Amino acid sequence: MDCLKAINTRRSIRKYKKKRIPKHLIKKLITGARNAPSAFNDQPWVFITITKQETKDRITAQKSQKSRFIKDAPLLIACCYDETKSRTKAHNLENVAIAAENILITANALGLGACYIGAFDPDYPEIEKTINKVLRLPRHVHIVCLISIGYSDEKPGKKKMRSFNEILKSETYY
Ligand SMILES: Cc1cc2nc3c(=O)[nH]c(=O)nc-3n(C[C@H](O)[C@H](O)[C@H](O)COP(=O)(O)O)c2cc1C
Repeated sequence: MDCLKAINTRRSIRKYKKKRIPKHLIKKLITGARNAPSAFNDQPWVFITITKQETKDRITAQKSQKSRFIKDAPLLIACCYDETKSRTKAHNLENVAIAAENILITANALGLGACYIGAFDPDYPEIEKTINKVLRLPRHVHIVCLISIGYSDEKPGKKKMRSFNEILKSETYY
């Protein structure tokens, strides 16, 4: 699929066929992620692939009802950063979020459906604690998001978009 098509047709997919994702496609997803830009080229990311049902169930137990669908995804990727690999704290979240977007676009290009899941909410620290425990994250590794991935079993409806006029300014804001 052409790159612009992969970007512009990407949608969040939350319903998946019960079909495993082959290893060579998982490698392509991570290849997309590792080619992302990062501040100072630190590449502080770490990706953990999760396919075992028990692990998915343990993670999902802590998530809100709305995000429980991830337990039925054939693949979850926990996108994390290793704070010992980046020279400044300032860009840790950005580095991983950009790599995560590359995974979403690559998934679409490969005919897979995916959804970005904000992994933790500062108001609910127990979610992060559970993920740290289940994924056995060392103290210096922190989760930024989960991505659920599978072969799509839904066609999302049209989504509301803010207009160009509203989001695009020329030279100055006013
Ligand atoms: C930072 C962030 C956090 C998100 N967290 C969740 C989530 O917890 N659960 C979920 O179902 N979707 C989540 N999403 C997906 C958004 O709901 C989705 O991108 C948005 O509704 C636009 O739809 P689209 O992805 O189909 O274009 C998240 C997306 C982003 C960027």
